[in-house]
Amino acid sequence: MIDFEGKGFVDVDVDPSLDLFAEIEKLKKEKNAVILAHYYQEPDIQDIADYIGDSLGLARSAAKTDADIIVFAGVHFMAETAKILNPGKKVLIPDLKAGCSLSDSCPPELFRRFKDKHPNHIVISYINCSAEIKALSDIICTSSNAKDIVDSLPKEQKIIFAPDKNLGAYINKVTGRDMVLWNGACMVHEIFSLEKITRLKERHKNAKLIAHPECEEPILRIADFVGSTTALLQYTQKDSASEFIVATESGILHKMIEASPGKTFIAAPPDNACACNDCPHMKRNTLEKVYNCLLYEQPELLMAEELRLAARKPIDRMLELSN
Ligand code: 13P
Ligand code: SF4
Repeated sequence: MIDFEGKGFVDVDVDPSLDLFAEIEKLKKEKNAVILAHYYQEPDIQDIADYIGDSLGLARSAAKTDADIIVFAGVHFMAETAKILNPGKKVLIPDLKAGCSLSDSCPPELFRRFKDKHPNHIVISYINCSAEIKALSDIICTSSNAKDIVDSLPKEQKIIFAPDKNLGAYINKVTGRDMVLWNGACMVHEIFSLEKITRLKERHKNAKLIAHPECEEPILRIADFVGSTTALLQYTQKDSASEFIVATESGILHKMIEASPGKTFIAAPPDNACACNDCPHMKRNTLEKVYNCLLYEQPELLMAEELRLAARKPIDRMLELSN
């Protein structure tokens, strides 16, 4: 047994002369494994993946795969969702410590107390939360179906929306609701500088600003289009503009450039000089870690059955409502 407990990943040196793309393909076939990757993964991982998508697409793909092993190249809550939906599969995650600042901003005990203070409210939780928070929720949503899910409830229904206050505020605005918002946020989407983006727009008059709804309201207010990662990608393919300023994690640029090689994509600038629009959690995964996790079949994502069943109900509700 390879020890990964302390580090969160299989810490075995990989022979640098190996062609990792070929080795991973071989292992996938031998083990009947599938690699699901989020758009925020590094380009090499996106290129070796069998399916790349937004959270909703990834959840659907995990639910229906007939592979024996799912390697989830994303963050912990995404791999949890795969296990919740398809418990018979071995779900591997290249680095168990690939977490999510948004998910971490909602500790279950504090959320339970928050819920108790708001009786008669239905809890809608964004999929970027732990299995424990899902188990405390009535319906899960993603950035691509949040509006439809909220719209499906009667106007007078009181709602708690967790954990992302920015997505919640955006959904309040587009649905005319007044949902009670948990005060959580994503460290990557809160870093964009309104001032720098405004200056960039001045210099690139024909560029369209496209933004993920986890961004703060001032950015969303000036955006030409707001949507999930898949929706943003599709927009850049269909829209006639040839330049886009992209306000989300920079990994998505890989697919945008691939899909529209003649167009220009500019990563929206953060409010300091660092590469803060790289998600440090998503970027913990590397091709070497994907290879090792497939080779050693570790780390495996495991979950208590009671928690899995409780977390599954609100996800099923989402899938029913967003068919
Ligand atoms: P999407 O569902 O739009 O891919 O968003 C996932 C995410 O983590 C955004 O930060
Ligand atoms: Fe979480 Fe933000 Fe990273 Fe998405 S980009 S995984 S919300 S920390």
